[in-house]
Amino acid sequence: MEHPLIAADQVPETGAVKADLFGRPVLVTNVDGRPRAIADVCPHFGGPLERQDDKFVCKWHKAEFALDGRCIRGPARADSRAIVLPVRVVDGMVTYVYTAPEGTPGAHEDDSHVAARTEGSGG
Ligand code: FES
Repeated sequence: MEHPLIAADQVPETGAVKADLFGRPVLVTNVDGRPRAIADVCPHFGGPLERQDDKFVCKWHKAEFALDGRCIRGPARADSRAIVLPVRVVDGMVTYVYTAPEGTPGAHEDDSHVAARTEGSGG
């Protein structure tokens, strides 16, 4: 399954830009020159996140998350994670690409066409 989020050339060098994934808010940001997408939902109580330097900070109660989603400061639980989404640049678009692990029940889409058009990956 794949779903384009935003043109790759619209991802800012610093900060993040909002995108939509099936009606859910997503932040797309740049990490070491590659796009990364994170669900814009704090695992504490669902507050919106903001990219600040090398972390995401919740706007509601200031929990902090590393760029890989790990919680690095509460009040979110230490073992919680922000949701980092699998993305690749496909045809110039930062694209959510989900490939179910082999053997997953219900996974019957052939994703080989995605790899053929992929320009790079993030996440
Ligand atoms: S909702 Fe994010 S820290 Fe509370």
